[in-house]
Amino acid sequence: MEYAWVEKAWEKIVVKIEKTSQSIGAAFPNGTENGRFVTTPAHDWVAGFWPGLLWLVYGETKNERLKALAVACEAQISHTLWEYDHLHHDVGFMFELSSIKQYEFLADDAAKRHALITANLLAGRFNPVGSFIRAWPNWGDEDHSGWAIIDCMMNLPLLYWASNVIADPRYRHIAELHADMVLKEFIQEDGSVHHIVAFDPETGARLGALPGQGYASDSAWSRGAAWAIYGFALSYKYTGKDKYLAAAKRVAQFFLDHLPADKVPYWDFRLPEQSHDAPRDSAAAAIAASGLLEIASVVEHDEELFYKRAAAEILLSLFHNYADWKDDSEGLLLHGTGYFMKEIFVDASLIYGDYYFVEALLKLKCQ
Ligand code: GLY
Repeated sequence: MEYAWVEKAWEKIVVKIEKTSQSIGAAFPNGTENGRFVTTPAHDWVAGFWPGLLWLVYGETKNERLKALAVACEAQISHTLWEYDHLHHDVGFMFELSSIKQYEFLADDAAKRHALITANLLAGRFNPVGSFIRAWPNWGDEDHSGWAIIDCMMNLPLLYWASNVIADPRYRHIAELHADMVLKEFIQEDGSVHHIVAFDPETGARLGALPGQGYASDSAWSRGAAWAIYGFALSYKYTGKDKYLAAAKRVAQFFLDHLPADKVPYWDFRLPEQSHDAPRDSAAAAIAASGLLEIASVVEHDEELFYKRAAAEILLSLFHNYADWKDDSEGLLLHGTGYFMKEIFVDASLIYGDYYFVEALLKLKCQ
């Protein structure tokens, strides 16, 4: 497959991010309404994606204005450590893409400390009797003390990172215990995954799967599958354990086998009637593509070509059919689905779709 189009896509992305950074500033975009991003507080799970995007573009352009905005975002995100009751397991997404990136680019020791403190918060969410990292605090009357969710696979790298940085395996042990629980409790026979599994927090007994952001408890939320592909590939990268790579490949096969012709999934792979006008989730496609490239980076030649080609086909379709280069819109990818059942950001641009689209294209560009 020829990848010349990637350079063209990259040039357009740089122009667009340099422009939208002027309207977005040091804030936290989530999804779009009428082409403009709705912003969210710095403790929201999506807060890391905008500084993460700024660092991706800064890494290639050295545009100092983008760097300054990313640094200003990190100051706000790290302040949320003092808003402990708002925090959740997605501190992984938040701090990996802000504090850890700032430490890597600028050797900023304060940012490194913020991420290390956060790794302790994430490790503190571990429930040893159920072997799971608790996802969320309670919301109103909804008791989440026994809930684990598939997205958490993407937060485990914060724990692997902390173990490497302080040369202490405790955080890695917790990450692996959680990943092993996900292998056992979340992945279904056919390679599809549950979004939420509930446990009794006192005994660790499995109570059952919940629909979460999917259509039903036994459906197959496409973004959940994308998080699993990428998350297991990362657990393999940090541990070298084959069982994680095997899981990433198994879910990837399910994902690829269920894609429609244009390679961008419907928001759930198991809707009661797979109607051709069900909304797509371009974010799931972008996340999966970046995860497939992660798999490609750790396997041997023939397999490497298979995963790279699969990722490139998805990205090419996103570039041709889903990218939004209009002057008056802020998002990069159209047709993402945030939370269909609650009608939140349906057929919208999503900052995490944009982030992983750019990250995956950059992986292809720099190969
Ligand atoms: N809950 C994270 C997501 O929407 O993917």
